[in-house]
Amino acid sequence: MTTGASGGPGSSGGTGRVFGFGVVGCGVIAPHHARAVAALGNARLVAATDVVAAKAQAYAATNGCDVAEDLDALLARDDVDVVSVCVPSGLHAEVGVRAAEAGKHLVVEKPIDVTLAAADRLIAAVDSAGVTMTVISQHRFDSGFVELRKLLDDGKLGRLVLGDAKVKWYRSQAYYDSGEWRGTRALDGGGALMNQGVHYTDMLRWTMGPVTEVTAICVNQMHEMEVEDVALALLRFESGAVGSLESSTAVFPGMPERLELSGTGGTAVIENGELIVTELMAERGDIGAYGAKAASSGPTAGSASAEPTAIGTDAHASQIADLLAAIEEGRPPLVTGTEARKALEVVCAVYASAERGTTVHLPLEAS
Ligand SMILES: NC(=O)c1ccc[n+]([C@@H]2O[C@H](COP(=O)([O-])OP(=O)(O)OC[C@H]3O[C@@H](n4cnc5c(N)ncnc54)[C@H](O)[C@@H]3O)[C@@H](O)[C@H]2O)c1
Repeated sequence: MTTGASGGPGSSGGTGRVFGFGVVGCGVIAPHHARAVAALGNARLVAATDVVAAKAQAYAATNGCDVAEDLDALLARDDVDVVSVCVPSGLHAEVGVRAAEAGKHLVVEKPIDVTLAAADRLIAAVDSAGVTMTVISQHRFDSGFVELRKLLDDGKLGRLVLGDAKVKWYRSQAYYDSGEWRGTRALDGGGALMNQGVHYTDMLRWTMGPVTEVTAICVNQMHEMEVEDVALALLRFESGAVGSLESSTAVFPGMPERLELSGTGGTAVIENGELIVTELMAERGDIGAYGAKAASSGPTAGSASAEPTAIGTDAHASQIADLLAAIEEGRPPLVTGTEARKALEVVCAVYASAERGTTVHLPLEAS
């Protein structure tokens, strides 16, 4: 279940304006964008393009839109107001900059791109064109995270002490072999952390605040590729809190992703986007010297932990609804380019620390 910050699936927007969408890159994630757009009353898919013409044709036939011969043809269309950038991660800025320069608003898939320099180019192009961009981080719209955000904003967890994000997933070798860009430094930007773990890196950073220090180990245990399938990092936050980040695609058969936060006021645990533990000292009372009561918990099922396409559409729809509301209201969306860059910076710091074998301090220099 998901909840939009504004609008949401079925919402028709406030002004009656209907936004035309153009999709660039018709692979695995593109159908989720088509379904998310179809779920909104104020959006419609008008065109799609892909460097592989047959993929664009199949996508257009399935989703009822036109094929644009190439990116220029898609950007030349007056009925395309928003471009969904669904190409491999290391091409996001290249495509996004051209779309921004053509005056289009943007939905960019995660990560924003794979280097801070590329992210900065895209953010600058969006700013100078005066368009609005959101970078997908759909879990911010999961109901559990909406509840957790409120607990934090209301100060219910007190001063945060410890935060752990765990994305212990499984991807077969066949997954990495399914696209030439997968598992490459140039276009995937890294392995388990840059591609899969970036979601919960954003959740950890968004809830715990700025990261100042990262000490990490990255290894490849079971895949033929040049990047890691296990990333493990210790983090220090600006607030003084500490935490950890674990991300893998080598944990068979894939475990539910978790975020565990503890503060001076209690503990909250999210699993697969659901808030499964809320233990507040203000409600339970503090625990005496002996006699702690067990925390409540319960497993949940169903995520992309084992199956790459098992991604719900509601959260994408909620995030796109937030973008459209932001355009109409002249405000930034919840996940701007600058927000997405913060998660990318933590991922880059993990890689830098693992490569150098030392603790890395943030902010990083863009490269
Ligand atoms: N939000 C999520 O949960 C989620 C899930 C999966 C993928 N993604 C992201 O979506 C992006 C795409 O991943 P995917 O799994 O769909 O990849 P994919 O390989 O299945 O699809 C990418 C498509 O882009 C096309 N393409 C490549 N270069 C192009 C260009 N210059 N112009 C037009 N088309 C081009 C390819 O031919 C391919 O059809 C990645 O950045 C990935 O991180 C996000």
